[in-house]
Amino acid sequence: MFDSNPKKILENSYLKGRSRSIKQNDIKSLNEQILYGDEFVFKINSTMLKKKTITLIAAAAVNDALGKDNDLIWHISEDLKRFKRLTSGHAIIMGRKTFESMPKALPNRTNIVLTRNKNYKAEGALVTSTVEKALVLTKEDIQPFIIGGAQIYSLFMEYCDRIELTRVHHEFEADVFFPKIDASKWKISKKEFVSKTENQPYSYSYITYEKK
Ligand SMILES: NC(=O)c1ccc[n+]([C@@H]2O[C@H](COP(=O)([O-])OP(=O)(O)OC[C@H]3O[C@@H](n4cnc5c(N)ncnc54)[C@H](OP(=O)(O)O)[C@@H]3O)[C@@H](O)[C@H]2O)c1
Repeated sequence: MFDSNPKKILENSYLKGRSRSIKQNDIKSLNEQILYGDEFVFKINSTMLKKKTITLIAAAAVNDALGKDNDLIWHISEDLKRFKRLTSGHAIIMGRKTFESMPKALPNRTNIVLTRNKNYKAEGALVTSTVEKALVLTKEDIQPFIIGGAQIYSLFMEYCDRIELTRVHHEFEADVFFPKIDASKWKISKKEFVSKTENQPYSYSYITYEKK
């Protein structure tokens, strides 16, 4: 029977060609193979993909505001520390614009950048061009994180198993917005409210969603 869950379709799909697992640690050679190697063909390892909890992590305001002028809008240091704690040691997948909004690749994480530009170079990061290739690059990581921005959240949301959302209880002017979470597909498994303080003007909630 036709399976409409995209992650399941990926799990069951074997991209055709010469199968060669990615063993090299060398970032440059991986980039060349993924982007330019006309012979390089990879296979989605279905067992590996099934084991993964693909997790989207974002901070969005009540009006879904995410960012403005290719930057974040607010600064909540506790949330940034939580982001670091959750993502450290894991693969993080992001769009080219989010990568360029950061001073450098995030340390202690495998940075993976999506772009349609075949010549794009990103220091300290793997560069690739599709959801499938990005997931292959996460290799054995059982919890790769999708870290934004808006385009990449929209692209990956249907492949994700979990959303770690920080909902900031304030409206902001923005030029990029978090996509709507479809309540028929996602259920809240955890919620924690954090009050505003003298030093931190916005209250917010950490909300964990699991795919139904
Ligand atoms: N609040 C948060 O949690 C959070 C988190 C992350 C980012 N942000 C904010 O979000 C904003 C950036 O988000 P954004 O939506 O403008 O950009 P983005 O998602 O970071 O990156 C967009 C880029 O990704 C590449 N891309 C998109 N779809 C693709 C596809 N199907 N295949 C291959 N490549 C694809 C394209 O790169 P090319 O143009 O090079 O082809 C595109 O321009 C910034 O303001 C940032 O601060 C907020």
